[in-house]
Amino acid sequence: MKILAIETSCDETGISVIDASGSFENFKCSVLADELLSQASLHAEYGGVFPNLAKREHSRNLVPLLKKVLGINYGIFNFQPACAGRFLIFKQLPKSKTEKIKEILGREPELAKQLLKFLRNTKKPEVDAIAVTYGPGLAPALWVGVNFARALSIAWSIPIVPVNHMEGHVFSALLRTENNFQFSTCLRRQVFNFQFPAVALLISGGHTQLVLMRDWFKYELLGETRDDAVGEAFDKVARLLGLPYPGGPEISKLAEEARSSKLEPLSSKLPRPMIDTDDYDFSFAGLKTAVLTLTKKLGELSEVQKKQIAREFEDATADVLLQKVARALAETGAKTLILGGGVAANSHINKRIAEALKDEFREVEMFTPARGLTGDNALMIAVAGYFRTLSGEYVAQEDLVAEANLTLHNL
Ligand code: KG4
Ligand code: ZN
Repeated sequence: MKILAIETSCDETGISVIDASGSFENFKCSVLADELLSQASLHAEYGGVFPNLAKREHSRNLVPLLKKVLGINYGIFNFQPACAGRFLIFKQLPKSKTEKIKEILGREPELAKQLLKFLRNTKKPEVDAIAVTYGPGLAPALWVGVNFARALSIAWSIPIVPVNHMEGHVFSALLRTENNFQFSTCLRRQVFNFQFPAVALLISGGHTQLVLMRDWFKYELLGETRDDAVGEAFDKVARLLGLPYPGGPEISKLAEEARSSKLEPLSSKLPRPMIDTDDYDFSFAGLKTAVLTLTKKLGELSEVQKKQIAREFEDATADVLLQKVARALAETGAKTLILGGGVAANSHINKRIAEALKDEFREVEMFTPARGLTGDNALMIAVAGYFRTLSGEYVAQEDLVAEANLTLHNL
């Protein structure tokens, strides 16, 4: 089954096409195309994602990405060249469909124009369903992707499968390639030896959640952040240190330099908020404020001080995440730990958790996304969408709505 997936929940516009078969135990998939356009540099001056800018960029990016994805021809897409005759144009996109698409994309006239032009000149590709992220995320950004999916569903008369973005992050960790886990398009991917119960630590710029999975699609939210997400804290602290957005990789680099050059640790320790609380919740706003207070006290920061702060901040974050993960593993008897989301790219956090598993939870297997799949991408939406199609979870295009605050709980 071929699935075209669309991801627009935050500041990455992604479209991917997979050819998947089998169920959880014998899943196989080929990545036929996987494209991503990041807006990170545009949001850099705001120090975070600016929702209306994200929406505008998604509208601009979607059709060029779609063309690119469908242009990557592995012999599966059967395209008719651009046709000039009116009859053909009419045949490829009847007036009733054109009107519906115009209505759906009424708030995105430029996108509607680009898409209609594309649709009039191309035949329906050999795609069986459209998977689209419908939440959680930034509402204006989500709506562009959702309405784009609705328009394609009408144009090509194929069904839509709505995907929870966080479920996408879960699946991104489970994909293994046959080629020694290296990430590249057009490789076959499989889900291997997965055992329940599983605990998922989903850490990104918008979310920090600990989720218990007792079975496929059975999620229980154990805890989440009460204020800032961990990635957001990385981004805000980076800003305080004068580092560019996104701040996670920048902080991580400085922290690593501090460790490898054996710099003196920061003399004043940063707090580890909620580390000993009797729950699975997190709080990172206080940690960020502690860095703010410290930077105010220190005045102009030297390069050495920036490295020391970055290291202490990363250590504090890793301590808290690790403590809560260890507690969740011990109390649930989980056999699997999944790490997902942009912050899962952090090598120090990964290392600390992997070491703890080796010492205390030898029977727990850890799954982390392959390089290139930690952040937002459409491939994870395609895979999650495929598994949802197996239980027939389609939605009529007119019933599909974006849900900015969608949770994974009791889906
Ligand atoms: O999952 P993602 O791409 O988008 C959201 O859904 O939020 O995550 C982006 C977040 C940003 O806050 C970024 O700073 C953080 O992931 N991030 C990292 C690292 N790489 C990206 N945080 C810490 N260490 C990293 N190496
Ligand atoms: Zn994400």
